[in-house]
Amino acid sequence: MKNINLFPDPIISYTFKEVYPPSDDTYLIIDYFKKIVNENFFDGLPINTIRKILDMGTGTGIIALFLQEIKKNLSKFTSKIYASDISDAAIRCATLNERTNNYKDSITFIKSDLFRKFPPSLQHSFDIIVFNPPYLPSITYKEKDIIRRRTDSNWDGGKHGFEVFLKFIRQVKDFLNLSQNYYIYYISSSLTNLSQLNDELEILGFRNSILNKKHVFFEDIILNRLEEL
Ligand SMILES: C[S@@+](CC[C@H](N)C(=O)[O-])C[C@H]1O[C@@H](n2cnc3c(N)ncnc32)[C@H](O)[C@@H]1O
Repeated sequence: MKNINLFPDPIISYTFKEVYPPSDDTYLIIDYFKKIVNENFFDGLPINTIRKILDMGTGTGIIALFLQEIKKNLSKFTSKIYASDISDAAIRCATLNERTNNYKDSITFIKSDLFRKFPPSLQHSFDIIVFNPPYLPSITYKEKDIIRRRTDSNWDGGKHGFEVFLKFIRQVKDFLNLSQNYYIYYISSSLTNLSQLNDELEILGFRNSILNKKHVFFEDIILNRLEEL
């Protein structure tokens, strides 16, 4: 049995200043995958049934590249890997990192605000979607008596911190392969109203499981998994 724990993390030689660098939340996801993927199963899903995986909000591309690394090493894992981001710089950065890791033209990159630019051919096709979204509440500040919002698509999740994620969740079922079990992995933060978020997720038909947590400075960051309720 191959030990995924021994797989090297992708080499991230390109980090642009406007692109989110791999951080604790990124490694919460990667380290979980190291624990739960083996030659036959991806977190309990038969690994040979997974045809398409999407890394939404890919940033440097590290999560998509780690999935590509698993693919190289496990013969039954033949899933196609997709990575998307709203930011031009992130897509450029992830494409360069794909090359550095010798996976040139292996990952399909899509520059898109959530699913807006996804072709119809990708509807109902993803078995697994990973999204480490911007998850912090927006900061507002006063300047010359005008209230302004500082926005940064790396961390600004909207007024309550989960508006971007909820927008994603409202669109996601159109792009999930609903003919078999699917998983959505995502990060949330204790700085947001998690019980409100959970209520919304339940209304939309998802069951949420907490997989891991880490305390970082002033918040807990939480790795979650959604599946059909
Ligand atoms: C917290 S960073 C995560 C980056 C990377 N996945 C990681 O884990 O290191 C959030 C990413 O989501 C992207 N993003 C924010 N809003 C988005 C949207 N509406 N559609 C697609 N990507 C978005 C940002 O550009 C950023 O790269």
